[in-house]
Amino acid sequence: MAANEPAAAVRVEGVNHFFGEGDARNQVLFDNNLEIPSGQLMILTGPSGSGKTTLLTLIGALRSVQSGRIEVLGHDLSGLHGSDLVAKRRDIGFIFQMHNLFDSLSAFENVQMAMQVGSCPPAEMRRHGTAILDRLGLGHRIDHRPKALSGGQRQRVAVARALVNKPKLILADEPTAALDKDSSRIVVDLLKELTTQEGCAVIMVTHDVRIIELADRIVNMVDGAIRSDVIMRDALMICEFLRTVDLFRNLTPTEITNIAERMKRRRYRKDEIIIREGEPGEEFFLTGSGSIEVRRRGAGSHDRHVATLGAGQVFGEHALIADEPRNATCVAGTDEVEVFVLRKDDFRRALEASASFKDQLQAIYFQRQ
Ligand SMILES: Nc1ncnc2c1ncn2[C@@H]1O[C@H](COP(=O)(O)OP(=O)(O)OP(=O)(O)O)[C@@H](O)[C@H]1O
Ligand SMILES: [Mg+2]
Repeated sequence: MAANEPAAAVRVEGVNHFFGEGDARNQVLFDNNLEIPSGQLMILTGPSGSGKTTLLTLIGALRSVQSGRIEVLGHDLSGLHGSDLVAKRRDIGFIFQMHNLFDSLSAFENVQMAMQVGSCPPAEMRRHGTAILDRLGLGHRIDHRPKALSGGQRQRVAVARALVNKPKLILADEPTAALDKDSSRIVVDLLKELTTQEGCAVIMVTHDVRIIELADRIVNMVDGAIRSDVIMRDALMICEFLRTVDLFRNLTPTEITNIAERMKRRRYRKDEIIIREGEPGEEFFLTGSGSIEVRRRGAGSHDRHVATLGAGQVFGEHALIADEPRNATCVAGTDEVEVFVLRKDDFRRALEASASFKDQLQAIYFQRQ
């Protein structure tokens, strides 16, 4: 693990999943990998049938992991079945479409049932339960039974029940599908607040574009596999930086966004070598924070310091453009150096269409003559 990476609430490694048996056996998830830190609101999107709910139910210990590894809140779910699996659901808040409220209990009593397995002192339950129902716009409905509530109101009772114990992980499958605009906003604001104030991790399946602005991260699934995984804060910062880089000056905003999407964050500690002179170049780098020292081999055994790079400056492009070994060594100059990394094939694909890429190439070959 890289330096200072926050603890992961969820770790999914090489997860496959199959439904059916024998000839009817059908693979629906393919080699999924995902790490979700505490405090992150992640949105999962993708076409119908792409495997979103299946992945969510595996993370939620609602099904046994068949292939690969899933770790949730420090517990390994791999190989667990039956009651062992059920026990792992305790610290997870579920907001699913099938909300399974108890028809014979009032809205408050449904929420109270959840509190009874949590840590809320009995004397506090009335106030606490009422407060969350009130927050969700149900203050005037707390003593109604589910039958006397609308679909959207029932959904909000289910949300109150899922969140009342402040679970460290919340799994929500289309939580706003039955809700109008205002109620959706209330639910999503509450989820967001739990991530920022309580450090909860939230995985939410949604197609609701109004929610996307609150997401810390958007993961897109297609045909059972993660197609893209974008951390919004990083993507915005990368776009801002790339816009100012000469190499990318002819790219459209969409092309820049596509590059930002493919860049992955990596951290280095002081004096760690990021690229080494003479080695083949496989990656392109953008400095996010901290500084990078660039050195070249000198005449004797000493390296010569040639530059210091800071936030927004790129390095490593020369070897990729010219298909030559690295012409310098780059070392983390400060603690907590954060860089964004683009793989060689993504870098070349992004730049081949760009006129400035051809200029760069010509300049390199020209210098050689
Ligand atoms: N219990 C099941 N038995 C057999 N096949 C299933 C089962 N549940 C899901 N599938 C299949 O697995 C694939 C993934 O389904 P899943 O429900 O995970 O998709 P989804 O991305 O959640 O779709 P939606 O957006 O429509 O909810 C689909 O092809 C679906 O038909
Ligand atoms: Mg689904």
